[in-house]
Amino acid sequence: MVSKTNASVEVVDHPLVQHKLNILRDRNTASAEFRQVLYEISHLLAYEVCRDLKTETVEIETPLETTTGPKLAGKELCLISILRAGNGLLDGMLNLIPSAQVGHIGLYRDPDTNIPVEYYLKLPDRLNERQCIVVDPMLATGGSAVAAVHRVKQAGAERIKFVCVVAAPEGLEAFNSAHPDVPVVTAAIDRALDEDAYIRPGLGDAGDRMFGTR
Ligand code: PRP
Ligand code: URA
Repeated sequence: MVSKTNASVEVVDHPLVQHKLNILRDRNTASAEFRQVLYEISHLLAYEVCRDLKTETVEIETPLETTTGPKLAGKELCLISILRAGNGLLDGMLNLIPSAQVGHIGLYRDPDTNIPVEYYLKLPDRLNERQCIVVDPMLATGGSAVAAVHRVKQAGAERIKFVCVVAAPEGLEAFNSAHPDVPVVTAAIDRALDEDAYIRPGLGDAGDRMFGTR
């Protein structure tokens, strides 16, 4: 736990997650495999972040008798992707929970200042009634995650979680200071940011790795 606040940070140290993260870190992993492994790891992270999702008890008929069981209140969940790279996590989570609502926040880091610039925003309504999960593979300086969660709160959300694949200690500190009420689920907390605000050892630029841009 890096945080000096009481904020919650969960590192998912399951061997399957760590194995897939290792593939993502490898510079020799090409875009197609990178996207596929990100898709796979998102299922495993979803498993952790959705652990306390609400269910309702419904009656069902098995082939032998009537019984009751839990049914996920899927529409009460809202997945929010920070574009571009967030879509690499969104797709897999949406595959698991197809009835979830979806929002998008377009942000890019200004190359000179590393401050996030917003270029797109589309969020579902009634966010105050939903569990929101904001997704982005990378938490570096934390600027993008802080700005995105700020937007989601402005839109009324009260229950928010943040999911990433790699976090820098500096970014976690900034995020926890800004949003101590928002738990973070990550596959790794890496060593530090470098002078260009890239996470070390990291996995490089997630969006570029996904789409083959530079
Ligand atoms: C990357 C990443 C995060 C952000 C993290 O996006 O996907 O959104 O950087 O950095 P921060 O914590 O310092 O804000 P980028 O800005 O490269 O945009 P992209 O997803 O379109 O490539
Ligand atoms: N954004 C990324 O995609 N990777 C980093 O290491 C930092 C910011």
